[in-house]
Amino acid sequence: MKSVISQAFIAYARDRFRLDWYDIHGASHWSRVRHNGLLLAEHYDVDTTVIQWFAFIHDLERRNDWEDPGHGKRAARLAGEINNDFMGLSKSQLSTLQAACIGHSTGKVEADPTVMVCWDADRLDLGRVGIYPNARYLCTRTAANESFIEAAYQRSTERTYRAEEDGAEYDIRDTDPDFNWSDY
Ligand SMILES: [Fe+2]
Repeated sequence: MKSVISQAFIAYARDRFRLDWYDIHGASHWSRVRHNGLLLAEHYDVDTTVIQWFAFIHDLERRNDWEDPGHGKRAARLAGEINNDFMGLSKSQLSTLQAACIGHSTGKVEADPTVMVCWDADRLDLGRVGIYPNARYLCTRTAANESFIEAAYQRSTERTYRAEEDGAEYDIRDTDPDFNWSDY
């Protein structure tokens, strides 16, 4: 699926993001969250535009890579500020995106289907920090499926493995086969 994320937004996000673009909360994670979200979206009646923007915005306002309880709320606020410039979401899409951002790190498992897919897409990428996703903390049946978790885990750890083993930086172009990074 063609990405809704524009080159202009990537340039903006690179400039705004306070943390390491290539590290655990940066662009390779965002790209895998988008990928996970679009795979889940094949099974549910959900908004893939909101899911893609969630992937690229939910951690953008982080101020550190550990505890940062306010980052979801800040991401939601930012989404409102940049909607006209970059996203062009309807009022209801924006409020769904904001709900997903605000709730993504609170551990909740009940929400609007689009929001649940956003949260699962993020949690399925925990392998990058050495955590195997626990089905109990996933919201949708598809995400909680053993083989779905395993496939997402493999994608997330491969990146960590390569980066650690060969000392290379994450190559965000490789993290999502559907995502055309050459446009950026
Ligand atoms: Fe995340």
